[in-house]
Amino acid sequence: MNSKKRAAEKAVEYIQDGMIVGLGTGSTAYYAIEKIGERARSGLRIKAVASSKRSEELAKQFGVALVPIEEIDSIDITIDGADEVDNNNNLIKGGGGALLREKILASHSKRFVVIIDESKLVGKLGRFPVPVEIVPFASNLTLRHLRALDCEPRIRRDAENVYITDNGNMIADCFFDIIEDPEILSARMNSIPGVVENGLFSHTMVHAVIIGTENDTVKIK
Ligand code: 5RP
Repeated sequence: MNSKKRAAEKAVEYIQDGMIVGLGTGSTAYYAIEKIGERARSGLRIKAVASSKRSEELAKQFGVALVPIEEIDSIDITIDGADEVDNNNNLIKGGGGALLREKILASHSKRFVVIIDESKLVGKLGRFPVPVEIVPFASNLTLRHLRALDCEPRIRRDAENVYITDNGNMIADCFFDIIEDPEILSARMNSIPGVVENGLFSHTMVHAVIIGTENDTVKIK
């Protein structure tokens, strides 16, 4: 079994009967959705909300019951991947373009469990570009504001086309060096008109990080 799958399957053990479950997005979250489907077929009764259209499709494919997000008050547990995790459990997310819905789910979850392989661990964030969801209107001006934060923002493209999120927005991938203070940077980014949300997730949201290792075990931090 690969490391991502091992982390995902460990996280799914946290799910109990009757829970509302947030589904992440990405290749690691895929394994979690697959496993939740397997447990649902064996009698686990849960309802899920998805962080992307892709994960919604996967839930349907694996037989996971979905509930419209408008019908719930809170989420018991959300299981999602990450692009980077630092020593304090701050995260960069959004490599798969779903950061806005992912952050909404995480911030309304009693438990936000992050599933990764060891390649995602860093001392300080910044090797991976920070994805920032921006509205298409005046995107050139929004990029100028982002550049003033000492990064090089690049509009994400999907082959020939500009990548468009599930919310109809664009992603600016912002290349920094080391990010010394993710909380302050996140606040600065979100104060720019035109920025919808950014992919820095504070450690205060994170309940646990489950790391699948190469030697058949998981570490939890
Ligand atoms: C999607 C995300 C993903 O969780 C992140 O990109 C990690 O993906 P993967 O599990 O495929 O490595 O934030 O927006």
